[in-house]
Amino acid sequence: MRVYNEEVQKVHVPNHQVITDSALALKKGFLVAFPTETVYGLGADAENKDSVERLFNIKMRPKNHPVIVHIGDLEYLDFWTIEIPKFARDLAEAVWPGPLTLILQRSNRAKDFLTGGQNSVAVRFPSNLISQKLLTEFHKLGGKGVAAPSANKFGSISPTNVAAVKQEIGKDLHLKTDYILDGGQCKIGIESTIVSCLGSQPEILRAGLIDKKIIEFFIGPTDQSKNDQIKVHFPGELKKHYAPKAAVITEGAPREGDGFLALINFETPVGCVRLAEPRNIFEYAQVLYKSFRNADDLGLQRIYIIKPSQNGIGIAINDRIQKASS
Ligand code: TXA
Ligand code: MG
Repeated sequence: MRVYNEEVQKVHVPNHQVITDSALALKKGFLVAFPTETVYGLGADAENKDSVERLFNIKMRPKNHPVIVHIGDLEYLDFWTIEIPKFARDLAEAVWPGPLTLILQRSNRAKDFLTGGQNSVAVRFPSNLISQKLLTEFHKLGGKGVAAPSANKFGSISPTNVAAVKQEIGKDLHLKTDYILDGGQCKIGIESTIVSCLGSQPEILRAGLIDKKIIEFFIGPTDQSKNDQIKVHFPGELKKHYAPKAAVITEGAPREGDGFLALINFETPVGCVRLAEPRNIFEYAQVLYKSFRNADDLGLQRIYIIKPSQNGIGIAINDRIQKASS
C-alpha cells in the first residue's frame, strides 16, 4: 500500500517569520525549497557536507554533478572563488542580482562535495525577492551560501511553481524541519544562463535569458576563437535532459491527441490539446515546463511543438526543446 501523507508536503507562505525560520533551518542543516526568478531550487547550506549529500540523494543526482552556490550579496563571491577576471566581475556587477550563473576558479572553501571534484565553482545571486530575503537572513546567521540545484529529480523538468515542487520532491522533505516556500509562478521559467569565466573570454555553457548580446552590451565584444579555455566538464550538457515523459515532436505533422504548444498566433490543429498560448517569447519560456508537466499529467503520448525563432530567450527555449526531444 502506498501511504500518502499530504502533511509532509506542507507549503509555507513566506512572510518574514517563515523566511527567518527557513534561514535558521538551513543553518541547522535542513533543506528549503524556494522560488527564484528562473525555477525553484532545493537549498542546503553550501558549507554543510551532510546537508548537500542529502540534497543529492533526494534528487538522485550523480555525485560528479556540481551544484550552484547561491549568494545574497556580491561580497560573498570572493568567499567561494579566486582569481576573478575583470570581465566576470563586470558581468556580476551589471547583471546581479539576476538570472546569471558564473563559473570561476574555486577557493578552498568550495569543497569537492559541491563542485563534483572540479577546480571550479558555480555562483549565482538571484533577484527573486523571496530568495533574496532568505539568503540575506541566512547570511545574517553566518551562512556563506546556499547550494541549490533545481528542485526536481535528476533528468526531470525544473519546477516553476509549488505544485511541481511537491510533485517532484514533496515526499522527500520532512514536515517539521524542512520548508517549501511558495512564491507563485517563476517569472522567467527556464534556468539561469551559465557562463564559464575560466578562460580569457566568457563562454556560455547553458543558454538563458541573459544572452550573448546582453553579455556583450556590458563587457564589449567577445571572440570564442580567441578563447584559451580548457574544455570545462559541464555535466548539464547531457543530451537528454529536462524531458517530459511524453515524446517531444518538432518535425512532421501533428496527430490527433497530441499536446500542442506554439505562440498564440498559431491555431490549434484539429484534435490536438492546446497546452498554452504564449503571446511572446518571454511568456513562451514561462509556460514551457508547465506545459510539459500538464501534458504528462494528462497522460499524453506526444507533445507537438512549433519552436520560437532563435532570438534572445528564444535561443534558450530552443535549447530546452532540443534536449527534451532528443
Ligand atoms: O536557474 C538556475 O540556475 C537554477 C536555480 C535554482 O538557481 N538552478 C539550477 O541548478 O538550474 P542545476 O543544478 O539544476 O543546474 C546547474 C548546472 C548543472 O548542469 C551543473 O552541472 C552545472 O550547472 N554546474 C554547476 N557547477 C559547475 C561547474 N563548476 N562547472 C561546470 N558546470 C557546473
Ligand atoms: Mg536542474
